Amino acid sequence: MIQQNATMKAVVCPKYGPPEVLTIKDLSKPSPNKDEVLVKAIASSVNTGDVRIRGLKVEGIMKIVMRVVLGFNKPRKPVLGTTFSGIVEQVGDAVTRFKVGDEVYGATGFNQGCHAEYLSIPEKKVITKKPANASFEEAAALPFGGQTAIYFLRKGGIEEINNPQVLIYGATGSVGTAAVQIAKHYGANVTALCSSRGKELAQGLGADSIILYDQEDFTKVSDKFDIILDAVGKTSKKQCNSLLKPDGKFLSVEGMDIASERTEYLEFLRELFESKHLNAVIDKVYPMEQVVEAHKYVDTGRKKGNVVLKMAGN
Ligand SMILES: NC(=O)c1ccc[n+]([C@@H]2O[C@H](COP(=O)([O-])OP(=O)(O)OC[C@H]3O[C@@H](n4cnc5c(N)ncnc54)[C@H](OP(=O)(O)O)[C@@H]3O)[C@@H](O)[C@H]2O)c1
Repeated sequence: MIQQNATMKAVVCPKYGPPEVLTIKDLSKPSPNKDEVLVKAIASSVNTGDVRIRGLKVEGIMKIVMRVVLGFNKPRKPVLGTTFSGIVEQVGDAVTRFKVGDEVYGATGFNQGCHAEYLSIPEKKVITKKPANASFEEAAALPFGGQTAIYFLRKGGIEEINNPQVLIYGATGSVGTAAVQIAKHYGANVTALCSSRGKELAQGLGADSIILYDQEDFTKVSDKFDIILDAVGKTSKKQCNSLLKPDGKFLSVEGMDIASERTEYLEFLRELFESKHLNAVIDKVYPMEQVVEAHKYVDTGRKKGNVVLKMAGN
């Protein structure tokens, strides 16, 4: 029996600022509406989106846009976190896709709320069964970079190109590690650009060639690409123009193009994970109590793959 006045622990961001603004509070445990699933969350990720919201880290006009979308002086939704994995604890009367005990994972986008012991989410939103062979930590690490990589690679037309030549600029972050592996799944010949620190990781992901940005000028390579995906927002179309084939496409995670989040993407990620075409790259795992440390680490911009947050009691 679920007590309606029960509480849960959650990470709360009461104002924009450095990692230290974050605190852990007892909040009311949600109870699901008739179309919703109550998930006992086990893991989440702390990603670049979270730290960007916490610190309101955007430039110029985007700062105003972000304040309008997220809250003017403080986040309107104070519980951060956009990915989750966990176990269905309760379902609303109208729910048909899930039952109590299902192991699920998903993403909540701008609704956030995943850095909490429980979340209630409509079954029609971005939630599905987690990969059967994935740990909860691995499942929580998949949606952020994975969905972004699928969105941009498909936008670049990767499904329609025969033997695509793909450059992943920034291959060792959350988006980059997913993009290398997903591009390989589409039959691409993948060149990964990373630092010397990321060389072994990029090799392990299956990159065919590697450019070390701290040792060579990538604009001088002779290869031509069908798709260049800037997965860290550190280059530009202008800088990459000479590396594109005549019909080649340049895509970037930086700017106004926001990757969509879809249950279909999660199902595709699950298929790739279960068939061992995709690994969840996890750099560090922090308990919820160390969320400030997790944010400090993500703030460095140097993480490899993903940072995972384990919910209290797991
Ligand atoms: N548009 C969208 O919908 C969307 C969605 C998701 C993310 N994003 C954006 O995408 C960007 C990347 O996100 P993420 O979570 O994947 O980042 P991340 O995990 O924090 O990326 C960190 C990685 O980038 C590498 N890196 C840092 N500087 C680099 C450089 N100059 N060249 C190449 N690699 C470099 C780092 O390795 P080294 O230190 O070894 O270089 C590190 O491994 C963020 O700006 C995020 O806001 C946009």
